[in-house]
Amino acid sequence: MDRRYFLNYSAITAAYLLAGCEERSGREEGKARQAVSDFPAAVPPQKAEEKLPEQIMPFTQKLKIPGEIDFAQIKKAALTAQKSQVNIFPDMQTEVLTFQGDLPNPTIRIKKGEVFDLDFMNNLADPTIIHWHGLIVPEEMDGHPKDAIATGATKQYRYPIEQSAGTFWYHTHPHGRTGEEIYRGLAGFYMIEDEEEKRLNLPQGEFELPLMIQDKRFDEKRQLRYKDPKVPQDNNGLLGDVILVNATPFPYHEVKSGKYRLRILNASSVRTYQLAFDTIREFALVGTDAGLLETPVMVQSVVLSVAERVDIIVDFKDKEVGDRVTLKTLGFKEGSNLTLHPDYPAFDAPMDIMQFHVTEKILDTQVLPEKLIPIPRLQASDAVNTRRITMEIIAGGIWTLDQKPFDMHRVDQRVKLGSTEIWEIKNSVHMAHPFHIHGVRFQVLDRDGKIAFPTDKGWKDTVIVMPFETVRIIVHFTMPGLFVYHCHILEHEDQAMMANLLVE
Ligand code: C2O
Ligand code: CU
Ligand code: CU
Repeated sequence: MDRRYFLNYSAITAAYLLAGCEERSGREEGKARQAVSDFPAAVPPQKAEEKLPEQIMPFTQKLKIPGEIDFAQIKKAALTAQKSQVNIFPDMQTEVLTFQGDLPNPTIRIKKGEVFDLDFMNNLADPTIIHWHGLIVPEEMDGHPKDAIATGATKQYRYPIEQSAGTFWYHTHPHGRTGEEIYRGLAGFYMIEDEEEKRLNLPQGEFELPLMIQDKRFDEKRQLRYKDPKVPQDNNGLLGDVILVNATPFPYHEVKSGKYRLRILNASSVRTYQLAFDTIREFALVGTDAGLLETPVMVQSVVLSVAERVDIIVDFKDKEVGDRVTLKTLGFKEGSNLTLHPDYPAFDAPMDIMQFHVTEKILDTQVLPEKLIPIPRLQASDAVNTRRITMEIIAGGIWTLDQKPFDMHRVDQRVKLGSTEIWEIKNSVHMAHPFHIHGVRFQVLDRDGKIAFPTDKGWKDTVIVMPFETVRIIVHFTMPGLFVYHCHILEHEDQAMMANLLVE
C-alpha cells in the first residue's frame, strides 16, 4: 500500500462516483471475489481494482459505533491521552493516540442541568489539554492552549451544563500540536440532551448515528503519515486519500427502511465536504453546530467545513432490502483553488465516504415534526460594537488573523460581559476558512458571497468564510474570561491563525 497504491484506490473511488449505481454494486461484487490476501502488493497492480485487498476495499468494513460515557449512569469519568495500537484495518495494527485505549473514542452524553465531572490525565510525551468544542464553560474549564498540562499530570474538569441540546465534540488543544493530535486520534463526540429535544421524538437508539468524518494518509505498514516535510503545501492543510468514519475506512452500515438521525462532524485537518447521498435526493437538516433548527430544512447537499456539525434526518423508506446508498462528498470547487498536495485528492475532490446497506423493510410511521425549537434571533440593533477580523497570509506563508501571528499571552479583543456584538469576518485569500470562537454560540447575520448556506439558519460556533467573502456574525457574550478564536483548519490554527478574546 504505497502512495501509488492509494492513488489508484482514489481513482477508483472517483470512478465509482461516475458509474451508475447498479453498475457499481455489480462491479463491487466482482471485486470482492477477486480480493487477494497477499497484502500489500509488492508491485503496484496494473489493474488496481483486481488486486484491491478486501480490507481496504470501500464498504467492506462495518462502521464502528463509539461507546458512551453517559452521565445519566455515572457521576464521574476519566480520560487518559495515550499512545495505543488499534485495528483501523482488520489485519494490521496502527499506532494512534486515544483517550481510553481504542478508537473511536467514547461519546460523552449528558443532560442540560447535570454536572460534568471528569479527570483528564496526560500520558503523552508533550503537554496537552482537552477543549470541549462548542461548550460554554468557565475559562479554566475551556482548555485554552496556555493551560496545557505536563506529561503525567491530571486535570479535573467540573462544570454544569447550562446550554441546550446539540452535537458537540472534544479534542486536545495544545498550541502548535492540535492538528497532529487530532489527526492521530484525539477527538470524540459530546452530546448534550434536553427536554425540548426529547419531546420531538427524533430517531434514537439504533436509528441515531454519530458520524465523525476524517481524511487521512497511511503508509505501506498502515501507519499514519502526518505532514510531508518535502511538501510545503502541507502547511496549508493536510489532505488524505482514505476517509475514515468513526475510525473505520470507507465503512458500511446496515440499516432498516426507516428514518435515521445522522449527527455528522467534520474532524478532518482541512477538507471541506459537500455531503450528499447518491440515490436519495433530499434529506432534512434539523440541526447545526450548537443546536436544533426552528424547522427542518430539506436539502440535497450540505457543506461541512472543519469542526462544523450537521444533524440530519435521512429516510430510507423507498429502499428495498439489498439496496445500497452511498454518502459522498461532491466536488466543492468554490472552497479553494490551491494545490495542497499533488499526490492526494484535492480540497475539492469528489469522494465516497460510506455506504448504507438496507437489510430490513420496516413500516416507519413516525413523522418528522414541522417545528423543532424556537431560536430567539439576536438583533443587529442590539449590538453595541462591530469588530472586523481579517483572515490573511503574511510573509513567509504564515496564516494569521489580522496579520498578527498568535501570541498566547496577548489579548487581542476586549469585550464587555453581557454585551452583544457584530463581528465581520473578512477572508482576504482564495481559500475558505472555518472561523471558530470559544465560549460562545453565535448566529450568522449575512454573507456577501454567492452561496447560501442552510446551516447559517442555526446556532453556530464555527462558520465557513468563503474566499474573499465577508461574513457577519452576531454574538452575545455570557461567559467571562480569556478564550481563543481561530481558524479551525488545523494546520492554520497551529501555525498562527488564532487570537485571544477577553470577556470582562
Ligand atoms: Cu475545536 Cu479551539 O477548537
Ligand atoms: Cu472550540
Ligand atoms: Cu485558515
